[in-house]
Amino acid sequence: MKTFTEVLARADKSVRNLLVTMPPKAVVSMYSSGRKNILKKIGKEDPSITYNPPDELARTLWGIRFRSPIFNAAGMFKNGEGYSLVARQGAGAYLAGTTTGSPRKGNKKDSITQPFTPYPRSKAASNWLGLPNDGHRVVAERLTDRVRINGCPIGVSVSASPGEEEHIALIELTIGLQLYENAGVDFIELNESCPNVPSHKFDHTALKLDEALIRRCEHIAHFFLQKRKRQLPVIVKFSNDTNSAMIPLLMDLLLTLGFDGVNFGNTSTSYKQYEPQIHPSEKKLYEYFTTNFGGGLSGKPLLSSSLSLCTSVMDYLHENPPKHEFHVVRTGGIENPADVIASEQVGISLNQWYTGYFENYSHFGNKIYQKFYEGLSVNK
Ligand SMILES: Cc1cc2nc3c(=O)[nH]c(=O)nc-3n(C[C@H](O)[C@H](O)[C@H](O)COP(=O)(O)O)c2cc1C
Repeated sequence: MKTFTEVLARADKSVRNLLVTMPPKAVVSMYSSGRKNILKKIGKEDPSITYNPPDELARTLWGIRFRSPIFNAAGMFKNGEGYSLVARQGAGAYLAGTTTGSPRKGNKKDSITQPFTPYPRSKAASNWLGLPNDGHRVVAERLTDRVRINGCPIGVSVSASPGEEEHIALIELTIGLQLYENAGVDFIELNESCPNVPSHKFDHTALKLDEALIRRCEHIAHFFLQKRKRQLPVIVKFSNDTNSAMIPLLMDLLLTLGFDGVNFGNTSTSYKQYEPQIHPSEKKLYEYFTTNFGGGLSGKPLLSSSLSLCTSVMDYLHENPPKHEFHVVRTGGIENPADVIASEQVGISLNQWYTGYFENYSHFGNKIYQKFYEGLSVNK
């Protein structure tokens, strides 16, 4: 029998092309609260199915067995909910967060809390959530000694608290990392690229590393990476807007400091660049969202930038082989098995999806990963 959210997602799919042509403010209002409600419900669901990915999709990275090369991107289960759901669906891993030192309510404007809108025909979405979350301490407690379902590993995305004084934010971040280490999580992702909070808003296109980013990475290396009591990889997530000419500088920084991987990447603020990829019937909504809230663009428009940035990293790593195990993770526009195959062909180790997950969920419900893996083997 289908669960409530499976039925709801299927129903929304049949009408959303039409719904998003309503007046833009009404659309954003409806989908902002709809998104929160569906995630609340989905996060509590424990589907009766338990699907195990085929063994040949598994890979061992940093000594951790990932059941397949694809799992949810950060921001889907911000507060550590939804583990049973995705583990039973057959995800390669699970990622909670992003969490910060203090709890955050997220952004609000024009009476709309945590603004979000899908662009279904463009297979894209915009969000200006502003990192709402319950804070490192609460989420770490929620994840503490979580019993793994069929060996599905648990990761968490963390960020320094936006708007906090730097020295306090750094102390809080280190404490957060230690809390997650003690909670027994398997891997950590440092979010350095949320376009919806001030402190992540450095110029990704600049040809110089941001000074505050360097200080944060150095602080984490000194006070956490070098002091880890067990195998606990930490990767850093940058923006899909990153200028590819910056890759050597970013990689030098991460490799020298002992980080374990990189993720490209987060949502985009290059609204003009991607406007041609927005379907004509959704341009008015796009214009309204990006001028009124700004926010980050996700989904299909990011497919080629995520591949090209990750490919540049792979090229760099071939030229400059790291002295320790280092992996590349791709996020942005992943929706079809062919996208993951393209990643595998250039040596990308893992993929994350957000917008494409919900597109597939509306078709396949809890069989989402099963169907995806069937497509992977057919397309290979
Ligand atoms: C509603 C929403 C909330 C998000 N929240 C976070 C977050 O908390 N932390 C983060 O690193 N990325 C966050 N992201 C970005 C995604 O993790 C991902 O990098 C981005 O959506 C591109 O992937 P996609 O094209 O598969 O959606 C969020 C994205 C969306 C759509």
